[in-house]
Amino acid sequence: MSNTPHRARTLLVIGGGGREHALVWSLARSPEVSRVLVAPGNAGTSNEPKVENLPIADHDIEALALIAKERKVDLTVVGPETPLVAGIVDHFSAQGLRIFGPSAAAARLEGSKSFAKDFLARHRIPTAAHGVFTRIEDAKAYIEKRRAPIVIKADGLAAGKGVIVARSNNQAIEAAREMLEGGAFGGAGRTIVIEDFLAGEEASFICVAGSQGVVPLASAQDHKTLLDGDEGPNTGGMGAYSPAPVVDARLSDRIMREIIHPTLQGLAAEGMPYTGFLYAGLMIDPDGAPHVIEFNCRLGDPETQPILLRLRSSLLDLIEAALAGDPAKNPPEWDERASLGVVMASEGYPEKPRKGDVIHGLDESQERTGEGIGEESGGSGKSGEVDNPVTKVFHAGTALQGDRVVTSGGRVLCICALGKDVSEARRIALDRADGIQWPGAFFRRDIGHRAIAREEARAKKIG
Ligand code: AMP
Ligand code: GLY
Repeated sequence: MSNTPHRARTLLVIGGGGREHALVWSLARSPEVSRVLVAPGNAGTSNEPKVENLPIADHDIEALALIAKERKVDLTVVGPETPLVAGIVDHFSAQGLRIFGPSAAAARLEGSKSFAKDFLARHRIPTAAHGVFTRIEDAKAYIEKRRAPIVIKADGLAAGKGVIVARSNNQAIEAAREMLEGGAFGGAGRTIVIEDFLAGEEASFICVAGSQGVVPLASAQDHKTLLDGDEGPNTGGMGAYSPAPVVDARLSDRIMREIIHPTLQGLAAEGMPYTGFLYAGLMIDPDGAPHVIEFNCRLGDPETQPILLRLRSSLLDLIEAALAGDPAKNPPEWDERASLGVVMASEGYPEKPRKGDVIHGLDESQERTGEGIGEESGGSGKSGEVDNPVTKVFHAGTALQGDRVVTSGGRVLCICALGKDVSEARRIALDRADGIQWPGAFFRRDIGHRAIAREEARAKKIG
């Protein structure tokens, strides 16, 4: 971008999950980037060209600022919500360090569900009716008035686990009691939000926001439950794909008009302008109207992995345009193909994942099945535009033990693939996943089922 005053050369990415591997991989593909530091990263990031892992926790803001100064980092990109909610952007900015993400005040959109819900109500942005409670008697009375199905949410950050969709009044009251009095989710559950159940289809709508403008990324859909058929407990996400056919161009415009613009304008009007990735978790009701389920102040995990596999333009240029004010001046360009990611998890996830197993079948050379990637073909075609590999394994809970890659968390890998449609992308991703093993590894085989059902219905109509 010619209007960017400052070309970043050494970057720092904060976080160590699958989303951060995808961020690091995408950022490192810009020819002007000479080094990407990642704190703490994982085995996957440490194997990427130009990338260096740093043994610093993602919430150690002081140590991160020190290393950013010491290593002359030009720009820091934050992956997870914890450091954002804790104020890393304010801290870095106060020291003159360039960083991309929202301030602590704006990150409350994710950090406090009661703040987000009250904000949405204040600005008449569509969302489920809600109440905020700290006393069980009041919560119980509200549940009995609104009646199940009803949704109980811990107010604070609970790593995606503080939400109970209750099918009966009793289950709702029990969930509220456990959060308010039983210490479930600790401090995060001392205040709860109770909201009406929304029926429909979920979609992840992620934008890049600057002080003067905003641009959506490609749409995506995530699968939050553990098991095939959308059964089992909620997890951080077991797979995702992009684009999400439920979000067509018309609906995307409507979401921008009814949800994203009013949110950003409302935040600015209240003195907390938002810069960074903004993730709206939406429920599209049976009439096609979008409602906010939640906001996240960051990219989604695993949505980021299939989304960035489709990005053909430079992620760094997009972020720089947002920092300069308006990312819409440099809108992202997407691979026409569908992208799909399957999360491979460890036995025991999400409760108590087993760790320390050696992973077999991670053959990096299999990723280079495209027409040549980043480093080789970065100069061809439009400036900065690259051909993406057909498959890519993004790491999450992995660590290096000598030269062996071992499991170190619940969600271990996200196997991503591009295909002419979601169905083909899934076939390629599953094929690749079937070639990777460790004891107790498991994954869903039905990621993308809604999109694939649509594709099959369309094919039947035509055929
Ligand atoms: P959240 O952490 O707020 O995104 O909630 C986790 C999951 O719970 C969402 O992805 C939905 O599947 C479900 N959920 C949350 N709120 C509602 C709601 N009001 N109605 C229906 N499902 C919900
Ligand atoms: N995949 C859901 C999230 O990142 O919150």
